Amino acid sequence: MTFVKRSLIATVALGAMLVSAAPALAQFGPPPPPPPPKETPWTNTALDAHTRADLLLKEMTQTEKLALLMGHFGTNAEWMNLRGDIPGLGWKMPAEARPQSAGFVFGVPRLGIPNQWQADAGIGVASQAGPAPRLRTALPSGLATAATWDRQMAFAGGAMIGREARLSGFNVLLAGSVNLAREPRNGRNFEYGGEDPLLAGVMVGEQIRGIQSNQIISTLKHFAFNDQETHRNSASANISDKAGRESDLLAFQYALEVGKPGAVMCAYNRVNGVYACENDYLLNTVLKKDWGFSGFVMSDWGATHSTIPAANAGLDQQSGYPFDKAPYFAGALADAVNSGQVPEARLDDMARRVLWALFSTGAFDKAVEVKEAEIDFAAHGKVSQADAEAGMVLLKNEGVLPLAASARKIVVLGGYADRGVLSGGGSSQVYGHGGNPVADLNLGPKFFPGPVTYYPDAPVAALKRLTRAEVIYDDGKDLKAAAELARSADVVIVFGTQWTAEAIDAALKLDQNGDALIEAAASANPNTIVVLQTGGPVLMPWLSKTRAVLEAWYPGTQGGTAIARVLTGAVSPSGRLPLTFPVSLDQLPRPVLDGLGQPDKPVTQINYEIEGAAVGYKWFDRQNLKPLFAFGHGLTYSRFAYKGLKADVRDGTLSVSLTVANTGKRAAADVPQIYVAAPQAAGWEAPKRLAGWDKVALKPGQSRTVTVPVDPRTLATYDPAGRLWRIRAGTYTVAVGSAADALGPKVEVTLPEATFDVKGQRLAGN
Ligand code: BGC
Repeated sequence: MTFVKRSLIATVALGAMLVSAAPALAQFGPPPPPPPPKETPWTNTALDAHTRADLLLKEMTQTEKLALLMGHFGTNAEWMNLRGDIPGLGWKMPAEARPQSAGFVFGVPRLGIPNQWQADAGIGVASQAGPAPRLRTALPSGLATAATWDRQMAFAGGAMIGREARLSGFNVLLAGSVNLAREPRNGRNFEYGGEDPLLAGVMVGEQIRGIQSNQIISTLKHFAFNDQETHRNSASANISDKAGRESDLLAFQYALEVGKPGAVMCAYNRVNGVYACENDYLLNTVLKKDWGFSGFVMSDWGATHSTIPAANAGLDQQSGYPFDKAPYFAGALADAVNSGQVPEARLDDMARRVLWALFSTGAFDKAVEVKEAEIDFAAHGKVSQADAEAGMVLLKNEGVLPLAASARKIVVLGGYADRGVLSGGGSSQVYGHGGNPVADLNLGPKFFPGPVTYYPDAPVAALKRLTRAEVIYDDGKDLKAAAELARSADVVIVFGTQWTAEAIDAALKLDQNGDALIEAAASANPNTIVVLQTGGPVLMPWLSKTRAVLEAWYPGTQGGTAIARVLTGAVSPSGRLPLTFPVSLDQLPRPVLDGLGQPDKPVTQINYEIEGAAVGYKWFDRQNLKPLFAFGHGLTYSRFAYKGLKADVRDGTLSVSLTVANTGKRAAADVPQIYVAAPQAAGWEAPKRLAGWDKVALKPGQSRTVTVPVDPRTLATYDPAGRLWRIRAGTYTVAVGSAADALGPKVEVTLPEATFDVKGQRLAGN
């Protein structure tokens, strides 16, 4: 497990630090007290970030530049059991780091360059394990936010996290996770944005934009192809340039364009044999040259493996020392620069990139401070609740939801629904107010990425508040007793959970006796509803016996209330699946996860060329497979109709419009999804692609016309030789659907041949 690995890595690192690196590190801190602030050329906010970075860089000594490039773990290593590993040796975090935080980088007070205080922040301001984690608002999982298909919701969530981070003293957030759900068993899918590059990239980009609206930096991570956790520190994800650019890299590219993050975190794994954090192709060519990224690349914690190769390949900042074997940057980087193995100009480039990020986001100009008393937790709880409600996906409903007001006895079974709602584990863990209501049960691993953590907004209490029924809870451990109780109820609600976490891949299966409990309840009472709290897809052997299934993901701090409001119809479910739910593992490109149960050596080779860019629904389409629930699927309590579908090509750009009408009896939101199918000759990886969508909230009888612009890259293929995107001339079919397997009206449109540069900008002459 990673905790063990983390300890080992750090143990080795400690030795290295003590023998060789201590003097080099000592020169970076603690810094002298800052002089009084004064007007300087680079504090002129009228200048652009590039100019300001250049002006400031000129004033910096080599040591000061190096300081900006060396990250330290922000948590006293005692909490990682290191003292236990090596009696008498402890590793202390820099005194200036925020307690129990992920990272810290010294600034240069003399020049007004702030320290970089780093926190994980995928769903909220996270804390590393320890005695006094900061208690903050947790959004639902990243996948839940992606399931809202609501850009404003993603932005609002990011803005909320950023506000709490600023008032917690953090100015660099390790957020913006957009690894594609190529592998449904990936234990971190809950942190990501699903399987489609456009949906994931846009939604995660919006979250980043929201975070950075607080004048702080967000990362975009983990670059790239960190699509499984099994052997994540060593495995090689192997994929061609073409397939990569049309899938995972495209998700990063969209997120970069929408979010404009100040930093990108490179991943643990190798890509085509080379570690992501010393991968010249990924960092220098794709990210910096092709996409024009001006910010800095920081390593994941323990993902730096060298000084010279890493620096020359495009890594700008080593993170979280002592997770790495050695402080590769700091003194070793100084030596490499002084001996000419890393050009002086490259050192300048590295420091300039950090400065650019601080200037372009405003983090340089507006200092962060710890002001916890100013955090409006009530308002932020509402942001989380709205996100959770909008992201829940009603997978199945045979007329039992919303719960009938006439139900007199509701039996709730399992999932600790009397205590709270589940969250995903690992570095993104946010600690909520009210503590962990399942702490006494010691669920899951004791240390990282555990323990299993719940937020104390219990669905049972919320159901009691929102219904007039008698609500009885049973933990479901005794299947016979649970079935007996189920038989006596008007309605049974079984809570199925799947705890997933960083560092561990998941079986697509409910925890404990979840499947058996659902079977038992459904056999005893046909009115059985299942509420799932899962990291991603699970298999559902019991599906046909149940009347309804609601996927609630990990619903965040207000999750119990959100679940109850959706079940009772206070709000109509409007989430749509951001990834495919398979019927069985043999439908996947890799029925057996690469490296699972195998030793770390030789290096695990993961062949992503099997599906190439045909990730998720594209694979299912290509292979003609019928999933359990398709990408884009999700029911509501109302009905919608699509009319007047039109596809217009203006100045060579496709845009699609249609009218959406709520023809049902309840206010609800719909997600019209635009799918495009290409002619055979276009050479797409799969029969169709998502080309855009909108989310439309409508009252009964109301309708609205929406226009969806189509990004040319969703119509093109990437040409690695020409280094460009090309749309092939031909007749394309544009359809509006309510899911990838439920297409409605279609129109045909003829597109001319067109080419676009690596950034997706139309090339002259077409
Ligand atoms: C994770 C990153 C995280 C970092 C710092 C790593 O284990 O992969 O996502 O930002 O730790 O906590």
